[in-house]
Amino acid sequence: MLAERMKRLGTETAFEVLARAKAMEAEGREIIHLEIGEPDFDTPRNIIDTAIDALNKGYTHYGPSAGMLDVRKVFAEFITKDRGIEVGPENIVICPGAKPILFFSILALVDKGDEVIYPNPGFPIYESVINFVGAKPVPIPLREEKAFSFDLDEMRGLVNDKTKLIIINSPQNPTGGVLTSDDMKGIAELADKHDAWILSDEVYSKMIYEGEHVSIYDFPEVKNRTILLEGHSKTYAMTGWRLGYGIMPPVLADQISKIQTNSNSCTASFIQMAGAEALTGPQDESLKMMAEFKARRDLIVDGLNKIDGFKCLKPKGAFYVFPNITGTGKKSKEIEEYLLDKAGVAGLSGTSFGEHGEGYLRFSYANSQENLKKALAKIEEAL
Ligand SMILES: Cc1ncc(COP(=O)(O)O)c(C=O)c1O
Repeated sequence: MLAERMKRLGTETAFEVLARAKAMEAEGREIIHLEIGEPDFDTPRNIIDTAIDALNKGYTHYGPSAGMLDVRKVFAEFITKDRGIEVGPENIVICPGAKPILFFSILALVDKGDEVIYPNPGFPIYESVINFVGAKPVPIPLREEKAFSFDLDEMRGLVNDKTKLIIINSPQNPTGGVLTSDDMKGIAELADKHDAWILSDEVYSKMIYEGEHVSIYDFPEVKNRTILLEGHSKTYAMTGWRLGYGIMPPVLADQISKIQTNSNSCTASFIQMAGAEALTGPQDESLKMMAEFKARRDLIVDGLNKIDGFKCLKPKGAFYVFPNITGTGKKSKEIEEYLLDKAGVAGLSGTSFGEHGEGYLRFSYANSQENLKKALAKIEEAL
C-alpha cells in the first residue's frame, strides 16, 4: 500500500500529451510539437566545453549540499551585478534544476493546514506540492483583461494570517504574461502585513521581449522573506543538465541544504562548473536565442489571430502563447485533443494549468518558424 500523501501528488500533463504524440509518431503520423516547455536550441558550446574540461579535471566527486563555495560566489556576484541587490554565497543554494527549490522551499516552510497562494493558470507543480504537504492551495486567478496579471484587490481578499507563502511567477508559464512593479509592490506589502514568505519563480527572467524584467527582489524590504528561484534550463537551453538555484535568507538556505543532504546530497560538481561559465562567459548564443524567440512570438501571435474563434494577446515574456479559444464554442480539452488527432499539432489545454485555464490553449513556440507556419496552417485547416 502506498502512503496516503501519494494520493495528493499531481503531475504535469505536458508529459502525458508528449507521450501520446510520440506514440502517434511511432505509428507514422507527422506531429508538430508545441506542447513542451523547453528551448529547442543546443546548449552553447562554451558551456559544454567547460563541463567536459571539469570532468577531465576530476570534478566528479560529492560536494557541499548547498553547492560548491566558489560556484556559489560566482552566482552571488552575478545576481548582485545583474539585479543590483547585494547577495553573498550564504544566500545561494544550488540544486539539480529549479524545481527542487520549489519543492524544498514548500517542504521547509509550509505545514499542514497552512495556506499557500499560487497563480492559476500556473505551473502545475505549485498546486501539486502544496497539496502534497497537506496545505490548502489558494488559487489567485490570472485575468486576460489584465494581460494575465491578477487583480490586487482579489489578492488582498485571499491573503490572511494563515497564508504562509505567496507564489508568484513572472514572466509566466503558461500565459507569457509579466507582473508590473505595482503588482509586486502590492504583494510585498501584503506579505509584510501578514508575515508570509514569497516564492518568486523567475526561471524566465531573461526571456523578456518588451521592457525590463521586474522582480519582487527590487523591493529590498522583502529580501528577508523571499526565495528567488532562478535556473539555467531556459536561458541557456540546459533543461536536461538539471541546474537551478535559489537566493534566500541564510537561515532558510541552511535548511534547504539540509533537505538536499537528505535527498540528492548535492548537484553534480562538473555541472555547477558549467553553470558558472554560463553566467560569466559570452552571452551571444543566449541573446541570439532570445531574438529568435521574439520573431517566433510575433509569427505565432499574428497567425493565431487570423484563425476563426481564436484571440491571442502578445505576451511580453517566456516562450508561450495562451490564445483564448472560446470563440470556437468548444472546451479547451476538446480542442487540444482535436488538434492533435486532426491537425497533428500537439498543444496543451489551458486546464492543464488549473481551472482558470478553461477557454485557453497553451502553445510553446520552442519550435522552428517553418514548423510554426506549418502548425498554423494545419490548425486553420482542421478547424
Ligand atoms: C514556471 C516554471 N518554474 C520552474 C520550472 C522548472 O525548471 P527546471 O527545469 O530548471 O527544473 C519550469 C519548467 O518548465 C517552469 O515553467
